[in-house]
Amino acid sequence: MTTDTLEQARQILQQARSVVCFSGAGLSAESGISTFRDTETHALWSRFDPMKLASPEGFAENPARVIDWYNWRRQTLALAQPNAGHRALARQPALIQITQNVDNLLEQAGCSPQHVIHLHGDITEDRCNDNCGYRERVDLQNPPPLRHCPRCDGWLRPAVVWFGESLPQREWQQADTLARHSDCLLVVGTSASVYPAAGLIHLARRNGARIIVINTQRSDASPLADLELIGPSGQWLPSLLQERQLSSTPN
Ligand code: OAD
Repeated sequence: MTTDTLEQARQILQQARSVVCFSGAGLSAESGISTFRDTETHALWSRFDPMKLASPEGFAENPARVIDWYNWRRQTLALAQPNAGHRALARQPALIQITQNVDNLLEQAGCSPQHVIHLHGDITEDRCNDNCGYRERVDLQNPPPLRHCPRCDGWLRPAVVWFGESLPQREWQQADTLARHSDCLLVVGTSASVYPAAGLIHLARRNGARIIVINTQRSDASPLADLELIGPSGQWLPSLLQERQLSSTPN
């Protein structure tokens, strides 16, 4: 990738009044968090069956297996640090982050929690599987084994979205509005293959946004991109965003 492409991407950002970042697992890859689909053999869905570990049916079949798997991921996250990509995004206090990531590395890097929209939930919390509304933060280093909800006696489960489940309504509405009204969507580290989240890229584009994609390889977002920066986000984001203050809400 040439410096010309970087310069063109900078110009797109310069001209945009309202920029929104839409990220996926690749953003956290350089922090040691596995992606789901990748050419890398350690990608989660090439090692594990998502229907057994990330679906309501898988949980009903064997809840302890699901909890143990999420607790293993939580312990990995407990040891992880934000990388240069998270930190570059956190230096943009007015930039709203729509993320498919369930980790808390953007917040750890310094992003305001009010500016991070987690479309697929939050692995740092448990919630009642019977939807009584109970939620509780878990200790990532020592996550609790399978246990009952103290309020209604259902099972507690990670507060994440599983295959076949709806996205959280408030977060989805916020993301939909932002995608419709942004001038530029910065698409970072996502295969753009999981819907409805990936539909935000199409929505933003239909509404006139320029699309900048950062990914180590071509992805389903490539055909939608005005410009693509191929390489790790921990390298591209600091140089793309330096000396710039971006905003998601034009004055
Ligand atoms: P994927 O694992 O599908 O895609 C990760 C993307 O990141 C791939 O396209 C990689 O090429 C790219 N990538 C890897 N390392 C990178 C790096 N250092 N810099 C930039 N890009 C890099 O992850 P998502 O698109 O986030 O859902 O997956 C979407 C959803 O599918 C996830 O939220 C999860 C999963 O099933 C749920 O858990 C509900």
